[in-house]
Amino acid sequence: MKKLVGSFIIFTLFVCSVESPKNEQSIKGIGPIDTLILEPINDSIMKIGMNTFTSKCTSCHTMEYKNSGPDLSNILARRQPEWVMNFLLNQKEMLEKDSISIKTNQKFEGNCNLTITSQEEAFALLEYFRIYQIWLHEFNAK
Ligand code: HEC
Repeated sequence: MKKLVGSFIIFTLFVCSVESPKNEQSIKGIGPIDTLILEPINDSIMKIGMNTFTSKCTSCHTMEYKNSGPDLSNILARRQPEWVMNFLLNQKEMLEKDSISIKTNQKFEGNCNLTITSQEEAFALLEYFRIYQIWLHEFNAK
């Protein structure tokens, strides 16, 4: 009996220690971005993000329908901004360890081919996703 109680306690401890960081990990992802404090959208940075999206992402992603990659128009309704930044900056590790990323990847044939060169570039894309969220909301409200 003693043995059983002992192993139950060890099991519970194990579950707790595995579970809590895992949840945290999927909400914010894994990578250099821990917490983002977002200012109002910066128009000129957002436009840089829009151009980057057009030149580097639209071969696979649209803002309207699922293409070879997921529709990204409502990415910020599905994911936290920190998660998006960590995906853009640390995709390889996210694909290996982040539960959401692993699940999404299984639903698609190919992998995301990110060619992001700096944190500023990733942030500009985030600003574009943020404005898109507002446009979408306004459009649906009409
Ligand atoms: C070669 C095609 C391709 C290109 C180019 C590409 N992606 Fe992807 N992307 C994918 C696929 C496929 C997935 C889903 C599987 C995965 O996560 O790898 C994805 C997933 C994503 C996700 C996660 C979506 C979710 O719902 O979890 C984000 C965010 C993303 N891409 C952003 C971008 C951005 C920003 C660019 C341009 C800088 C880009 N991608 C370029 C194919 C692509």
